[in-house]
Order: sequence, then C-alpha cells, then structure tokens
Amino acid sequence: MEANGLSKSFRLGDGSIRVLADADIRLEEASSLSIQGSSGCGKTTLLNLLARLEKADAGTVSWDGRKMTASSSPSSRESVMRADFLGVVYQAYYLIPELNVLENILMAARLSSSVNRDSEDRARSLLSRMGVGDKAKQIPNKLSGGERQRVAIARALINKPRVLLADEPTGNLDERTGGQVMDLLMTACDEEKTGLILVTHNPIFAESADSRVFLKEGKLITDEEFEEIERKANDEEN
Ligand SMILES: Nc1ncnc2c1ncn2[C@@H]1O[C@H](COP(=O)(O)OP(=O)(O)OP(=O)(O)O)[C@@H](O)[C@H]1O
Ligand SMILES: [Mg+2]
Repeated sequence: MEANGLSKSFRLGDGSIRVLADADIRLEEASSLSIQGSSGCGKTTLLNLLARLEKADAGTVSWDGRKMTASSSPSSRESVMRADFLGVVYQAYYLIPELNVLENILMAARLSSSVNRDSEDRARSLLSRMGVGDKAKQIPNKLSGGERQRVAIARALINKPRVLLADEPTGNLDERTGGQVMDLLMTACDEEKTGLILVTHNPIFAESADSRVFLKEGKLITDEEFEEIERKANDEEN
C-alpha cells in the first residue's frame, strides 16, 4: 500500500486547518508500520484517506499496484475491492450490538467476493486463535473490552485482507489486556501475511513494528528526524 502527496485541510470557522501536507507513506508487502503523533495531528484522517473512506484535497493512494486519485470518491468497483484488500480495527470496536459474535464476523464476509460455505469455519477458527472461541453465540454487550477487540480483529481478518489498518486498537484497554491484544494482532498479521499499519500512542507497541514513523506537521517523518526535532525544541527551551 502506498500514498503520495496526500494533503487534507478541514474548514474551521472562517479559516481552515491543514492536517496533511504533501504526505507520503509506503507499506511493504506483509510488513508492519507504526505511526505515532500527538493527539489531533491527523493520524485517523490519514487512515481514512488510505482506506478511501474520506476524500483528500490532493494526492494518490495505491492498493496492490492500483493507483487512485485520493480526491475522488471510490468507484463501485473500488469499494468492492476495498472489502477484499483492507481490514480495519478501531479503538471503539464498532461491533453490531444486535448480532452475535459469529454473525458480526460473517457480516464482514458477506461484503467480500470470497464468501462461501467455508467462511463460517474460518470465522470460528479465527475466534479460537484470538482466544474467544467459546464466545461465538454471545452478543457484544456481554463481552469485556478486550474480548470485543479480539472479535473485531477476527472480523477484520475474515476476508484475508492484504492490509490491516488499526487505529489505536488498545486505546480503551488496560495495559495488560492491551499487551495481550497487541500480541494476538501482530501474530495473526504475521501468520496471515497481512500488512499492518498501526496507529498507537504506546511507544513499546510502536517499537515492535517492522518500521516506525511519526506524523508531525502534516508529514510522516522517521524516528531519527523526530528525535532531532524534539532535541532542538529542548535545546531552545533550556
Ligand atoms: N470531519 C472533520 N471536520 C473538521 N475537522 C476535522 C474533521 N475530522 C478531523 N478534524 C480535525 O482534524 C484534526 C486531525 O484529526 P484526527 O482525528 O485525524 O487526529 P488524530 O491524530 O487521529 O488524533 P487522536 O490521537 O486524538 O485520535 C483535528 O484537529 C480534528 O479536529
Ligand atoms: Mg485518532
């Protein structure tokens, strides 16, 4: 997955705020990349643009070599492609409360071109791998936060996506549960050869990705560049 020259501003009162300014990002096949950055700097916006859930002002997004104009809405073909290419995990889980765990996962399978009789077996096998194999018939409201996120990860992986976007997946979990969920997420992506873009505020989780970048003033920068900026800011303060 790749994006180049992404720019995005939001209107704010009479003016506007520039969230992304000619940003570039690249995720190598089956690798993991973490993104850190202060609250409000544009991480969720960036993921929305990569998923083409939101339109950019400028730039391109490529999925599996298919280069698309980020400022246009996805075509219906691209929306279908998205269901196969991408899985998404959010901080707040977003399970459908009226459906049980298995039905939640199969709902995602139905959006994909690959849904078939084996989808239920795959859903059950993913639930077991996530350590919630016994919860298939439970409704989301009766699950703990950690269990809900395990289900959401199984749902995100059901269609064997090439890339998983995870937006602070452990943001609502205590440290221990968050660590367990992160281990499961990383291991599953590894085993499935699914690429991972992980937005996190936790530097230990960020370190465990194959590569690590920061979003700062609308651009993605390396950790060396980030540390250099922080060091200069500290020097100026002292
Ligand atoms: N639809 C929108 N309309 C107007 N402003 C928006 C919209 N979406 C986001 N913003 C603004 O853009 C900026 C970036 O928001 P975004 O949610 O991408 O930040 P973030 O890095 O994900 O923050 P956090 O770490 O708190 O989740 C914020 O200032 C936010 O208020
Ligand atoms: Mg966010």
